[in-house]
Amino acid sequence: MSQKIQSLSEYFQEYQESIQQPEEFWSRIAKNFHWKKPWDSVLSWNFDGPEVKWFENAQLNITENIFERQLSTHGEKTAILWEPNDPKEPERSISYNELFELTCQFSNALESQGIQKGDRVIIYMPMIPEAAIAMLACARVGAVHSVVFAGFSSTALADRINDCEAKMVLTSDGNFRGAKNIPVKEVVDEALEKTTTVDKVIVYQRTQESVTMKEGRDLWWHELIQSESKEHTAATLDAEDLLFILYTSGSTGKPKGVVHTTAGYMVYTHYSFLNVFQYEQEDVYWCTADVGWITGHSYIVYGPLLAGATTLMFEGVPTYPTAGRFWEIVDKYQVNQFYTAPTAIRALQAYGLEPLEPYSLSSLKVIGSVGEPINEEAWHWYHDHIGKGKCPLVDTWWQTETGGIMISPLAGITPNKPAHASLPLPGIQPILVDAEGNELKGNNVEGNLCIKFPWPSMLRTTYGDHKRCKDTYFSTYPGLYFTGDGAKRDHDGYLRILGRVDDVINVSGHRMGTAEVENAINEHPKVIESAVVGFPHVIKGQGIYAYAICDREGHTDEELIQEIKDTVRKIIGPIAKPDEVQIVPGLPKTRSGKIMRRILRKVASKDISNLGDTSTLLNPEIVDQIINGAGIKNS
Ligand code: WT7
Repeated sequence: MSQKIQSLSEYFQEYQESIQQPEEFWSRIAKNFHWKKPWDSVLSWNFDGPEVKWFENAQLNITENIFERQLSTHGEKTAILWEPNDPKEPERSISYNELFELTCQFSNALESQGIQKGDRVIIYMPMIPEAAIAMLACARVGAVHSVVFAGFSSTALADRINDCEAKMVLTSDGNFRGAKNIPVKEVVDEALEKTTTVDKVIVYQRTQESVTMKEGRDLWWHELIQSESKEHTAATLDAEDLLFILYTSGSTGKPKGVVHTTAGYMVYTHYSFLNVFQYEQEDVYWCTADVGWITGHSYIVYGPLLAGATTLMFEGVPTYPTAGRFWEIVDKYQVNQFYTAPTAIRALQAYGLEPLEPYSLSSLKVIGSVGEPINEEAWHWYHDHIGKGKCPLVDTWWQTETGGIMISPLAGITPNKPAHASLPLPGIQPILVDAEGNELKGNNVEGNLCIKFPWPSMLRTTYGDHKRCKDTYFSTYPGLYFTGDGAKRDHDGYLRILGRVDDVINVSGHRMGTAEVENAINEHPKVIESAVVGFPHVIKGQGIYAYAICDREGHTDEELIQEIKDTVRKIIGPIAKPDEVQIVPGLPKTRSGKIMRRILRKVASKDISNLGDTSTLLNPEIVDQIINGAGIKNS
């Protein structure tokens, strides 16, 4: 049975069904899968707890739905195509049968090293098929994976290991990324000095760099699997058993572990993948994300593999060895669906059209965007020069917490409107509210984006701290899930996402909490206080601008600025490094001691035309000093 919507009228019909009879709707969709035991109830929920359960008491294993359910029809089909960082190195092509064997073999290895159902396993790996195999093997044995983007620092990695009390780390000797060879095993070793729960580290040999292997703790991946069987009986999981934890930044405190559970996530990633991208069985699909982010989880690994798709994994970066690399790969593998981030589009757009010239891109049928609002200029460039004006462009809005795409055109079905994520997928009930939480009905309204009804792949909790989940997402507007984004519904009823309305900065499609960056800056011994805001950045979407009050003794400002940037790089990772640091004599504060970020944002974006009322500040004189320090001419 096809689960693909074929026309706009069918979409509207299916959408109506999904909100009028959600349980009937989702049970119809879920019947497509293999269940070891059926559910007792489709959905029970309240957003006050919050407590949400989908397909309660059903039993399954998500990997049986990727493999056993499909092998008779898809066994010989290519599951993963892999393109290495260096185009001169051979590519890999792994069929569903082979991927199944590799997953089983590694599942046995995990079990022989003591991993049991419910244990947490950290995956800190490059973009190689083994990263996907590691995730699938965890899912097969019932362990909970937590993938950490391999660009994060040892401190960030240690924080995550400690938060989920991980028992094992899967990593590599090194990572190839563009011209760089990054010694990630050293990062793991450093992280493990700050943790106590990890017994074993399994190291995949990728770069052949020499690394230190700690006796009794570290094992080589290739040696470990040698003696393992390629058959494995999947563990039986309950629908609501944890599938994975993925850490993401918020407006306060340290990153939180977003928890996704098994059955709902499976049903929704599969359904949304098929419908948004309109995947057809012979297609080659490519998402350029890293498996360290939710996009990699849902739309490189789980969604595509559940749909029996051929999913391409790319180890490298868009500009290595040349700015034509993405397009070379599209032609080489005859990619049909291409899914990337606006920041990559803008970066490549800056190279002009020349890098495109050798390539036809004629295989492309659908192009997609994710991670941040896509500006109209980038939208048109992508649509005209990559999609050649003929490919539908799906601007997909969603979040780590939503697990899957929530608002997006369905390729070729929903009429495209530049920079609009457009319409909700079936089952998704977005609403806009004003500051008091009143629903803004009708069209031509702008407000805060909330979701008023559960969907199968929504987060269930934040690991180890359910109250934080409630406070962050379910307390601002009681009874609603609050996304943290602002949005506009236009005269046609199409949604346009305007960006974060909280203290979260979206840098190149990655989320950074301002508080998290401030905490890192404050680790510098000469920093007394700091404040971080976002500012418009032509390539990254938003850049990071830091204001710091420092004890300058014995330092030039240039030295301090460089040291502050390095401190953040070391504590969080290169993606969090501030673009600008301004040393200031003070920060604008209200009488209650709150930093007035509105002013700091204005100065950072070099737009001081409308600073608003600053007379209520405790220290109004500081504003001019900051403006002068930023080198802005006060006209
Ligand atoms: C935040 C979520 C979902 C995968 C990647 C990011 C922003 C995401 C869009 C879009 C406008 C978008 C939102 C959201 N965002 N997609 N198509 N248009 N904004 O996941 O790190 O959890 O970040 O990214 O602000 O809240 P994430």
